[in-house]
Amino acid sequence: MINGTGRGVPDRMGERGKTVVAVHAFDAFLAERRISVRPDELLGPYTTMKVGGPADYFVEPRSPEELAATFLAARECELPIRVLGSGANLLIRDEGVRGVVVRLTHLNRRNGLHVEAGYNFSKLVKETAAEGLGGLECLAGIPAQVGGAIRMNAGGRHGETAAAVRYVDILTPDGELRRLRKDQVGFRYRGTGLGDAVVLAAGFDLLPAAGIRERYEDVLAQKKNSQPLGTHNAGCMFKNPTDGHAGRIIDECGLKGLRVGNAHVSEKHANFIENDGKATAADILGLVEQIQARVPVPLELEVLVW
Ligand code: EPU
Repeated sequence: MINGTGRGVPDRMGERGKTVVAVHAFDAFLAERRISVRPDELLGPYTTMKVGGPADYFVEPRSPEELAATFLAARECELPIRVLGSGANLLIRDEGVRGVVVRLTHLNRRNGLHVEAGYNFSKLVKETAAEGLGGLECLAGIPAQVGGAIRMNAGGRHGETAAAVRYVDILTPDGELRRLRKDQVGFRYRGTGLGDAVVLAAGFDLLPAAGIRERYEDVLAQKKNSQPLGTHNAGCMFKNPTDGHAGRIIDECGLKGLRVGNAHVSEKHANFIENDGKATAADILGLVEQIQARVPVPLELEVLVW
């Protein structure tokens, strides 16, 4: 048995390539610091697509110090470690994820315009618009946590997160807490130069302005009109090619409704794949391949695959 989790060692070792020493050390290190770890936690429910297998270890640190300790333990034990946000732009494979997955569920406070990474980003956008503060209203309806919105420089037709950021607090891979000015973050189209650093919090640069609430409502209404917001999906599956829109291209090829297993191309917006409820990651990836094979230009995934 590994650490009282009731799991048999031999098959797990073969299947996942863990070593008993590493597993003992990771659990023991966290237990010593009273950091709770959940083995074999299914990740599908933590994503908007609602598919995918388990993480070997799932940790929800209660402070930056616990987060740093979890990273240190994973590094010592040579276990890969990833940070899961709101799971809105993410597809988890059916086999799940080896190593450690961390979720910043408890780092979720807002103090004015200083907001922790686990805070609900669409809530922040809604709240600041209601407060009459301008800068985030163009991002209405983007499902994310603040950390994910920063890391992915979330955005769309009306703007991107970077435009409203003043600073970003990070945990470096060496366990150091640092504050980066906006120009040190390396913001680019749907990304940053943050590498393996973890976003802990961000400071936003918002100013009172007229018509912010109306603009927020307008952007949200446009999104509701053109995207399948209430269904199990991961947002736009593909990046827009330089001179076009993936959604339009897929639509023009007549692929709306195309189906593999329990996944299909949305009838409302062709760059969305919807899970009927029982889809597997294999269904979705199979559909991705079919789309890529049938469109006349290369389409690159925007959604991350773990
Ligand atoms: N279109 C079609 N058929 C479709 C879908 C779209 O012909 O099935 C056409 C539309 O009529 C429009 C054009 O394609 O003329 C562009 O569509 P849309 O305005 O929906 O924008 P998009 O480029 O498809 C981008 C972002 C979205 C973001 C919207 C609105 C990317 C890959 N997508 O979509 O982001 O919400 O702008 O700001 O950058 C996401 O990142 O997950 C996402 C949904």
